[in-house]
Amino acid sequence: MSAEQARVQIQELSKKLHYYNKRYYMDNVSEITDYEFDMLLKELIELENAYPQFRDANSPSQRVGGTISKEFPTVRHKYRMLSLGNTYSEQEIQEFDARVKKILGHNDFEYFCELKFDGVAVSISYENGLLTRGVTRGDGSKGDDITPNIKTIRSLPLVLNPAPEFDFEVRGEVFLTKEDFKTLNDKKEDLGEDLYANARNTASGSLKMQNSAEVARRKLSCYLYSFISESAPFKTQEEAILGLKKLGFPISPTFKKCTGIENVINYINYWETKRYELDVETDGIVIKVNEFQLQDELGYTAKIPRWAIAYKYKTENVITRLNNVTYQIGRTGAVTPVAELEPVLLAGTTVKRASLHNANEISRLNLHQGDYVFVEKGGEIIPKVTGVDYSQRKTDTLPIEYPNNCPECGTPLVRIEGEANHYCPNYKKCAPQIKGRIQHFINRNAMNIDSIGEQTVKQLYESGLVISPADLYDLTYDQVITLEGFKDLSTKKLLQGLIDSTAQPFHIVLFALGIRHVGKTVAEKLAEHFKNIDNLVNATEEQFIEVPEIGERIAKSVKEFFEKNTNLNEVDRLKKAGLQFEKIEEELSGNQLDGKTFVISGVFTTFGREELKEVIKKHGGKVVSSISSKLNFLLAGENMGPAKLEKATSLGIRIINETEFKEMIK
Ligand code: IVH
Repeated sequence: MSAEQARVQIQELSKKLHYYNKRYYMDNVSEITDYEFDMLLKELIELENAYPQFRDANSPSQRVGGTISKEFPTVRHKYRMLSLGNTYSEQEIQEFDARVKKILGHNDFEYFCELKFDGVAVSISYENGLLTRGVTRGDGSKGDDITPNIKTIRSLPLVLNPAPEFDFEVRGEVFLTKEDFKTLNDKKEDLGEDLYANARNTASGSLKMQNSAEVARRKLSCYLYSFISESAPFKTQEEAILGLKKLGFPISPTFKKCTGIENVINYINYWETKRYELDVETDGIVIKVNEFQLQDELGYTAKIPRWAIAYKYKTENVITRLNNVTYQIGRTGAVTPVAELEPVLLAGTTVKRASLHNANEISRLNLHQGDYVFVEKGGEIIPKVTGVDYSQRKTDTLPIEYPNNCPECGTPLVRIEGEANHYCPNYKKCAPQIKGRIQHFINRNAMNIDSIGEQTVKQLYESGLVISPADLYDLTYDQVITLEGFKDLSTKKLLQGLIDSTAQPFHIVLFALGIRHVGKTVAEKLAEHFKNIDNLVNATEEQFIEVPEIGERIAKSVKEFFEKNTNLNEVDRLKKAGLQFEKIEEELSGNQLDGKTFVISGVFTTFGREELKEVIKKHGGKVVSSISSKLNFLLAGENMGPAKLEKATSLGIRIINETEFKEMIK
């Protein structure tokens, strides 16, 4: 290929990719599959690498990142980024309305209402139709130039086609959708890592990461709500919002133009509960005087506009009595303090327990026995104790002391440097760790032995029959029948469940072993690479690191696991019990799914996600990532995102589960 041919090809690929991206995000239409899109993108990236002189600053390849920023340059905002006045009551909204009317001297105007998205504010500049700069709010006057990270937001146009005649800035909120946040956390859970606490902080942290390729993997989203330009193509906020939408910018469809403050209040009331159904976190609404001319007349106070105000929904917060602090020991030995509360109603559910995170948190709160504490349910997954009502504390109460020894087995706790958590190191004998490991082993997403529940694990452990997964396979009829509540049928069922589990594939067995940092995806990668347990046991740390996506931390953890004699012995016994310790290369293929498209969502029992994609492909089907009216099937696993389900249902897409899928390819 000549340089000239490469230049033309790069241009054509870019044009196509910009077009498909716009169709996808603006019109919700996938003209090509994700795979085809990725192939075009890959071709473009390869060409750009070979001919860097033709790489454009706004090439679609910027979406996948790759820029490393040692630090972000501080830049001055051309127009200050102001914040809004906050209100929490209807009365304050009425007062705002009265003020506006008084200054304007009439009531011949409209309000434009929008939701207040809970993310990170950014300002993005476009010149000659090209995205040129993305800046954080910073202190309002100066912010960080995070352009490479902003370019990874797929719904944001890099190039406007045709280019508008005016240059402008748009402002909006960058966030993680609830679904993408959940996916990120599911992956963390899979890895046995601490979860991200909330979507807002995760989005904020992601925007400031130095490696834009990593930012791209976080899948940030954004909604725009302001348009600023010297030439004034729009006269009202409504025109600006509709105009931005027409230009291809992501706009939330939740806005509403309201005449009269009563309608604004109706809007507030409508979204108070309805907002929970959206895939974006919101914390209030923003009321703006619609006409820009009137906005100018109203002007600004020192810090905030007089033409807009935010109404914040209250984060529900209650006071209740702290009855006790208990400590949970996980299967890895991690100790988590939990506040046991006097049951209290909060945001629609009864809360009895709340997280206290770690020892630092207990000392920060200076918690005492019997304290009255504030409990909140914000964007966080678990309710948390946010403060103490010290005025209600009795004089003679004792402070809560974080234990030095494991509350379950008495072993002195250890704290790994740099980590906030304490650990109980008594791997072999600490009861909750043992029960936790057995429970993990039989779990639905591991060996899936559903004939054994949590209660049975407890009974088996307490009777001394089972202290490790391998013991399960030595159980006899005579032993099980002696357990309380077990009769002939349930005993046979339990034993059959164990026999059935021996058919689980190698990567599932590997995951079930409960090696720290080895989630399902990692287990799949290891099984694929090493093929059998002997190769794994004998592999060096370096060999582990050679596997794509396996880093030092995982390598070290796996190595350590297989260095322990107890674990080797356990593996040996499980092998003798007939479990799969070798990857079976089955040639699954056929044409049962010819031409059919699938969206995969959630977690599956028999298949890993990558494996599932492979199986669909091998049977002639295609996996796509977005739900459109053309989609044939939504393949739904455990914990699938509610947004996907809703969309598929509304479009009348057929939703199938894992069993139905297996039937299809039989
Ligand atoms: S308008 C002059 N509209 O809330 C101020 N802001 O407290 C223009 N926000 O910094 C801001 N959703 O980060 C506006 N629909 C919306 C918004 C919104 C969220 C954030 C934004 C701003 C803060 C103001």
